[in-house]
Amino acid sequence: MHITHLSLTNFRNYVSLDLALPPHIMVIQGDNAQGKSNLLEAIYLLATSKSPRSTSEKELINWSALKDEIPVCRLMADVQKARENLSLELALRGKAPNTSQAADPLALWQSATKAAFIHKRIRVNGVVCRAIDLIGQINVVTFSVQDISIIGGEPALRRRYLDIVNSQVDTRYLRQLQRYHRVLWQRNRLLHQIGENRAGPDELSFWDEELVQTGSYLMVQRDHMVAALEQWAQVIHAELSGDQGKLSLAYLRSIDKERGKGDSQIEETAEAFTRSLRAAQNKEIAQGISLVGPHRDDLRFFIDEVDIGTFGSRGQQRTISLSLKLAEAKFMLRETGEHPILLLDDVLSELDSHRRSHMLRSVAEYQQVLMTATDLVHFDPNFLEQAVLFRVRQGCIEPLSH
Ligand SMILES: Nc1ncnc2c1ncn2[C@@H]1O[C@H](COP(=O)(O)OP(=O)(O)OP(=O)(O)O)[C@@H](O)[C@H]1O
Ligand SMILES: [Mg+2]
Repeated sequence: MHITHLSLTNFRNYVSLDLALPPHIMVIQGDNAQGKSNLLEAIYLLATSKSPRSTSEKELINWSALKDEIPVCRLMADVQKARENLSLELALRGKAPNTSQAADPLALWQSATKAAFIHKRIRVNGVVCRAIDLIGQINVVTFSVQDISIIGGEPALRRRYLDIVNSQVDTRYLRQLQRYHRVLWQRNRLLHQIGENRAGPDELSFWDEELVQTGSYLMVQRDHMVAALEQWAQVIHAELSGDQGKLSLAYLRSIDKERGKGDSQIEETAEAFTRSLRAAQNKEIAQGISLVGPHRDDLRFFIDEVDIGTFGSRGQQRTISLSLKLAEAKFMLRETGEHPILLLDDVLSELDSHRRSHMLRSVAEYQQVLMTATDLVHFDPNFLEQAVLFRVRQGCIEPLSH
């Protein structure tokens, strides 16, 4: 798949962008703070309906547009897939500002960030739909210098990673994930009430069943994904590191920490989950929170049995994160039969020449790759020959000649 056209209105520092995107490799050069990451963020948003960096959608609307009576930010993309063409649109509509603040940008921004009302409207092929219907229409794999935190950061980052990748390729996963979080919220509320003697433990059984039903699917799919990623990542890692140790990935489930690896099935996972809930019940009531399930699982990375999240050097963590991302692209291709779009945000400058040339060779296999850079010196001239070059300056993008 590839995006043929992108248009942005009042998105971050892009007041108005209309850009025809070439297939294959696009390199976007720009100094700091010109809009490189914002451009890739826009595509990520169209793929996942969420921003990779901000939790508040209000931050996405261009500051100067907040002076408008009704601030609107709009992202649109035309996409060519193997069997169909798509048009995607995501619009955010803010709240009209208080006129007494109209002259003060800071007050305007504060009022916009406080505004309870941001309406998100999504259209696929012109038809209004929910976020859940947008996710998976296009698949993206992002590469950024922050990827290293997947290896060494908090477990929540790794769970989020597993959820984003799986949700992009499996709509059932996405639905079950949403349901799981709703059930978890209800169950936690009930546990709290039981702890305060405002409800009885017998009321838990309904929510336990719901939790097991939705959560088991998530765990099994995560298991499958991790096994697939491991296969590719091992090969890529061996090449990137010059065979310095064998990489392995382990999905650690909170329901059965001692379990060995292997293909788990839904039924046996559900049984193990039910047993774990039973064993944890008293503790859960005492703490007023659900202690087992996919929201407590983790993904760990090992080289020759050493946990690299805890003991790895930065270089080791970086090599693994790169291997993981390249494996992720292969996973998406296998799952969907379509090439994902690769978004590389200024990653080359952090790599040594061996890793850099491996990276360039690997990404060149994909149908569409958007790479940003402050400086083109890190690119191999032969690679640049294959690419279409652009320059971004203060939210405007123009072609750049070789
Ligand atoms: N809502 C917004 N409205 C207007 N400008 C914004 C908004 N959000 C972010 N910006 C600005 O957009 C500019 C470009 O940001 P971006 O992160 O894309 O820079 P970049 O080119 O990736 O820079 P770097 O090389 O430092 O990573 C920044 O100066 C940022 O302050
Ligand atoms: Mg940036």
